[in-house]
Amino acid sequence: MVDRPPYVHRRWPNYSAPKLIFWASIFAALILFLIFHSPPPEISSERRTAATWGGLNWEKRVQISARPRSNSPSHSGGAGHLSVLVTGAAGFVGSHVSTALKRRGDGVVGLDNFNSYYDPSLKRSRQKLLEKSGVFVVEGDINDAVLLHTLFDIVAFTHVVHLAAQAGVRYAMKNPGSYVHSNIAGLVSIFEACKSANPQPSIVWASSSSVYGLNSKVPFSEKDQTDKPASLYAATKKAGEEIAHTYNHIYGLSITGLRFFTVYGPWGRPDMAYFFFTKDILKGKPIQIFEGPDHSSVARDFTYIDDIVRGCLGAIDTAEKSTGSGGKKKGVAQLRVFNLGNTSPVPVIKLVSILEKLLKVKAKKNVLPMPRNGDVLFTHANISSAKKELHYKPTTDLQTGLKKFVHWYLEYYSGNSEKRS
Ligand SMILES: NC(=O)c1ccc[n+]([C@@H]2O[C@H](COP(=O)([O-])OP(=O)(O)OC[C@H]3O[C@@H](n4cnc5c(N)ncnc54)[C@H](O)[C@@H]3O)[C@@H](O)[C@H]2O)c1
Ligand SMILES: *[C@@H]1O[C@H](CO)[C@@H](O)[C@H](O)[C@H]1NC(C)=O
Repeated sequence: MVDRPPYVHRRWPNYSAPKLIFWASIFAALILFLIFHSPPPEISSERRTAATWGGLNWEKRVQISARPRSNSPSHSGGAGHLSVLVTGAAGFVGSHVSTALKRRGDGVVGLDNFNSYYDPSLKRSRQKLLEKSGVFVVEGDINDAVLLHTLFDIVAFTHVVHLAAQAGVRYAMKNPGSYVHSNIAGLVSIFEACKSANPQPSIVWASSSSVYGLNSKVPFSEKDQTDKPASLYAATKKAGEEIAHTYNHIYGLSITGLRFFTVYGPWGRPDMAYFFFTKDILKGKPIQIFEGPDHSSVARDFTYIDDIVRGCLGAIDTAEKSTGSGGKKKGVAQLRVFNLGNTSPVPVIKLVSILEKLLKVKAKKNVLPMPRNGDVLFTHANISSAKKELHYKPTTDLQTGLKKFVHWYLEYYSGNSEKRS
């Protein structure tokens, strides 16, 4: 016979009936608590990676989508001959960049997890549009190392345009973990896959103007110090720039970071002010306009999506090759950071008056002091570096760009009230 350790006997002492009822009710209360006390809202589908990719048919779609229009070796390396992996392809910027690359003949494979940070049906609509132009969007998370490995096994990507991220400044106070998941862990996962790939692709990725944080010297220049982020979002983008330095230094990855300044336009992001102002003005709902100390106006260097896309293409086309192979650095590789802005900050109140004219509806305005929730008072880009190196030249002013946005908005949401809710 095996000797039982003494504690086994002690674990189940003889309970009297009242004691049993007492413990049973505690247990029942605990169960009820677990059922009704749901954990803080988590973005759905972020961790849903199973069964959204894989299989022979899936592989074929990836291959076809990645194929450049012309594969003639004499031209290899130039526009129309690239194979590009675009992360965040169902997102605002990602869908526009993917379409532009495909249109000029490059092969494009998208990757997106279609999370519900904002209405996923908008992401699905962008996906439909992409599929019409021949871009397949793989459904998966950038943290899925097996998926990334598989993609690089199937396709020798020449470039990765990494735009997948948890965007938005205010949401970081609600769900900080999603910023760490996508902007830090996800970025590392992308760099890991790229450094191990043979050949290593060149990487262009989205940083943000928010890295300038509380800086007061304008215009913001790439040479300025960026160590005063005002939000967790900004801090994760800044961290990304440092992580990029590491992967460039150790593994010879060619990496270009682009600091976008408040990008707007058709197919834009519903969580951004120009977008929800439009929605609320049309509904007759009051909008909140923030102002700085002493009634100073909050201003943004609004940049039209087509200008941003041209900047991204410029970065792709001037990116040098990564130097590593077999996961090892073979020489010094390119490491760049550029501002992509419009260099003409516009006060938010002016944005509202343009929208009022375009929508032909007067806004109900509530002016409030800006809460300390991560937003900064103004942004203003010095773009001389991108002009010189990327031939970047923004051409769309806010009035012109908003007109195109409003046109799209009215058409997209016309007669489709479910989409608007
Ligand atoms: N729009 C702007 O004004 C602006 C300004 C500065 C920087 N940026 C940066 O530009 C990039 C694109 O921004 P956007 O405005 O198109 O945002 P977006 O939210 O529309 O696009 C991002 C896409 O990435 C996807 N995604 C997020 N986390 C993911 C993950 N873990 N795995 C796979 N997919 C994931 C989302 O589903 C979304 O479709 C982001 O990196 C953002 O931080 C945007
Ligand atoms: C903009 O940045 C460049 C360097 O990239 C610098 O030479 C120039 O002086 C800056 N312009 C302004 C107005 O700060």
